[in-house]
Amino acid sequence: MEKKDILILGIESSCDETAAAVVKNGREVLSNVISSQIELHKLYGGVVPEIASRKHIEKINQVIEEALKTAQVTLEDLDAVGVTYGPGLVGALLVGVSAAKAISYAKKLPLIGVHHIEGHISANYIENKELKPPFVCLVVSGGHTHLVIVRDYGKYEIIGKTRDDAAGEAYDKVARAIGLGYPGGPKIDKLSKEGDPEAIKFPKAKIEGAPYDFSFSGLKSAVLNYLNGARMKGEKVKDADVAASFQKAVCEVLVEHAVGAAKEYGFQKLAIAGGVASNSTLRTMMEKACKENNILFYHPSPIFCTDNAAMIGAAAYYEFLAGTRHGWDLNAVPNLKLGER
Ligand code: KG4
Ligand code: ZN
Repeated sequence: MEKKDILILGIESSCDETAAAVVKNGREVLSNVISSQIELHKLYGGVVPEIASRKHIEKINQVIEEALKTAQVTLEDLDAVGVTYGPGLVGALLVGVSAAKAISYAKKLPLIGVHHIEGHISANYIENKELKPPFVCLVVSGGHTHLVIVRDYGKYEIIGKTRDDAAGEAYDKVARAIGLGYPGGPKIDKLSKEGDPEAIKFPKAKIEGAPYDFSFSGLKSAVLNYLNGARMKGEKVKDADVAASFQKAVCEVLVEHAVGAAKEYGFQKLAIAGGVASNSTLRTMMEKACKENNILFYHPSPIFCTDNAAMIGAAAYYEFLAGTRHGWDLNAVPNLKLGER
């Protein structure tokens, strides 16, 4: 390894994944360890914050050790520690933040707090070595639906967001109503392949005066009403058709907004990020719409779409270069805004 290489340990614990990764120069992933709690939370149909915090405490040191071991480095080789400090579940975030502070204090390493969404966006830098700002990024996860202009590394402008449910949340709720279990996104993705997306016409919300904002609660209610109505009439419902029709309605809105924004604001590059960005229909539709409009389309591999720490290491690298340093008083900020320090 050349001396000028910057090695960052990324740590992520904002929701139900305990993750640590070692990233070289912001784009090369030397290790990416993820301990998922999905099996635990499945029992309850969603993430239980108290259980998440406890599990993070059990796993964090193990996950960090494994990330260092896989990357074949020691704490002495690191240049900085980056950690998600918001937004997310406060008890969950605190575990990662405390671990990062302990390492940074013990080894006298710079501490860099990272915004979770900045992490998701930065996941695009890992496999797209040529991608540089400015570009438009659609961030779609279980907790967020944001349309963001990435002006520069660390410089973000939110031009649209959801007024109610996040896209992933809508997937999870509809999946639960169909009886598919948690997390719903991947299950609807799979079931949709056997269904007809034209079978049922579900509504797509438009928000007056806010062309890039989203609303998914009306769509979610329409699906629930459809299911209840059919059940009451004793009609048989084809779950795959419901899944495919719902998915089409969600993805059409996401594509129209994202491609529309790239065109209106004059950007030739469009990226997607977050758990829902691994959705196969969304990717296919985005790819097609971008091609038709001469826009370059970027997306991370599925493993870098859902929560991971490599994306935090990537984001922390650019914050490191920009001189961002946090003190020992760094705290978890559950409702942290993008662009806040
Ligand atoms: O980014 P993420 O891991 O966590 C948050 O920051 O929220 O996103 C999790 C969300 C869940 O709602 C999950 O159902 C959704 O991403 N998701 C998907 C797919 N894979 C995960 N949604 C649609 N299609 C998928 N293939
Ligand atoms: Zn996330």
